[in-house]
Amino acid sequence: MRLSLVGCGYVGEAIAQQLQGRAGLELTVTTTSEERRGELSAMADQVLVISADDPDGLLAALKGRDAAIFCLGPKGNRQVDAAGYRRTFNDSFRCLEQLLPKLPVLQQIIYTGSCSIYGDAGGGWVDESTTAQPRDEHGAVLLEAERQLLAMGSPQRRVCILRLGALYGPQREFEQRFARLAGSTQPGRGERFTNWVHRDDAAAAAIAALDGHWQGIVNVVDDAPVPLAELLNASLAQAGLAPITWQPASEPGNPGLNRRISNRLLKSKSFELNHPRIALLSGDGAPQREPTSTAKPTSPQR
Ligand SMILES: NC(=O)c1ccc[n+]([C@@H]2O[C@H](COP(=O)([O-])OP(=O)(O)OC[C@H]3O[C@@H](n4cnc5c(N)ncnc54)[C@H](OP(=O)(O)O)[C@@H]3O)[C@@H](O)[C@H]2O)c1
Repeated sequence: MRLSLVGCGYVGEAIAQQLQGRAGLELTVTTTSEERRGELSAMADQVLVISADDPDGLLAALKGRDAAIFCLGPKGNRQVDAAGYRRTFNDSFRCLEQLLPKLPVLQQIIYTGSCSIYGDAGGGWVDESTTAQPRDEHGAVLLEAERQLLAMGSPQRRVCILRLGALYGPQREFEQRFARLAGSTQPGRGERFTNWVHRDDAAAAAIAALDGHWQGIVNVVDDAPVPLAELLNASLAQAGLAPITWQPASEPGNPGLNRRISNRLLKSKSFELNHPRIALLSGDGAPQREPTSTAKPTSPQR
């Protein structure tokens, strides 16, 4: 198989690593930075320095490939504005659409998207059948990206959208990322659910999608959505730092989205998570797993 990994950052590198040594695979990875060519060349047969919104560059990455995994993320350390998101996702997928007539052997397109397209559900469960309700323009861009890609599906070309939960893993450990909140006072109770997936499980899901010829939208989250306060205080305790004091009487200015994202469809594909719940939470109270009944998940509050 000839596979292109378009965008090879946190998740993309893990995919490339997990594919190392696979017989019969010819792997191309892309970066936008010449400086990354060296580090990436150790994990691929070919490294191309391209921007996916450049037709010549994207054609070079995809021509003659059987499959492509798009693992794009906007560049920059600071929060990228919606226009930056549009350039990264919508412009790249517009470019892909225009190139399709030149890519007759491209049978499979996989995209690592985001659960951020789901709206608030008052703490209820949402799944792939729940109507997406992006909260902001960034989410709207990602929903549009999904629509662009799904429209490219055909009997000859499978399209799979993986909606990833928030990522954690190596270099993105909770203890470090939440340390600045140690001993602080925060408004509210921190009751809203957060939904996570370990970086290596996200990468493994992309490979499972490739091998299993998945089509359509699949949530990629772990088994146990966790209330924000529980996660923060467990992280701070693990790091030996002072807990947060919550102020139930004062409402947070931006309360955040409260929903539990179902991975039932992912599980139905016999995909096994290596990190079904966040390790530092193990043993502290009952897990917030999805009920095993066949009841429909709660629809988001409108
Ligand atoms: N991070 C999260 O918590 C999270 C949560 C949910 C979903 N996701 C989804 O997962 C995906 C990957 O996330 P990540 O953390 O792996 O991102 P990342 O580490 O920022 O990597 C993004 C990659 O995309 C490349 N890239 C950026 N703009 C490009 C362009 N115009 N053309 C081609 N390549 C471009 C970057 O190139 P360079 O090598 O030049 O930097 C980099 O290799 C994202 O699409 C995001 O929607 C992430």
